[in-house]
Amino acid sequence: MGEELGAKVYDLASVSIEDPGEFDLLGFGSGIYYRKHHRALLDFVNELPEMSDKKAFVFSTSGFRKVPLLNPLHKHLKEKLKEKKVELLDEFSCRGYDTYGPLKLIGGMWESHPDELDLEQAKQFAQKIKKQIEYS
Ligand SMILES: Cc1cc2nc3c(=O)[nH]c(=O)nc-3n(C[C@H](O)[C@H](O)[C@H](O)COP(=O)(O)O)c2cc1C
Repeated sequence: MGEELGAKVYDLASVSIEDPGEFDLLGFGSGIYYRKHHRALLDFVNELPEMSDKKAFVFSTSGFRKVPLLNPLHKHLKEKLKEKKVELLDEFSCRGYDTYGPLKLIGGMWESHPDELDLEQAKQFAQKIKKQIEYS
């Protein structure tokens, strides 16, 4: 996604709350833990100022598929971004190697993911986002 958008990619451990100021578009993503994005990401977004001039997208890898209402996965992060008045453009999720709890005993699930197809779909997602910001 970063390559496709020509964007800077940051690890949360090395980004500061002040940095988002210089960007028009922000992407937020992590693995899913207990049906939410990683706590560190949710805490980071919590500390951000209101950003009504910014557009955003969210993404994740998870063991289980994102299903609206039943298994929303992105709900908490999206709610937090809404509080920050960010305009959410779209969201992307794919499977990631999952070794949660008892899955460890059987060697985990989705070991080869994200795979080539996931990466291609992530690329297409980024192209769609790019078009959206070009035409806005
Ligand atoms: C402690 C733990 C909790 C998890 N909880 C969920 C969950 O609630 N739903 C889900 O679909 N996947 C869950 N997973 C699977 C992760 O979302 C998946 O492995 C993801 O690809 C991890 O990404 P990361 O390695 O980049 O952090 C969990 C994994 C772990 C280790």
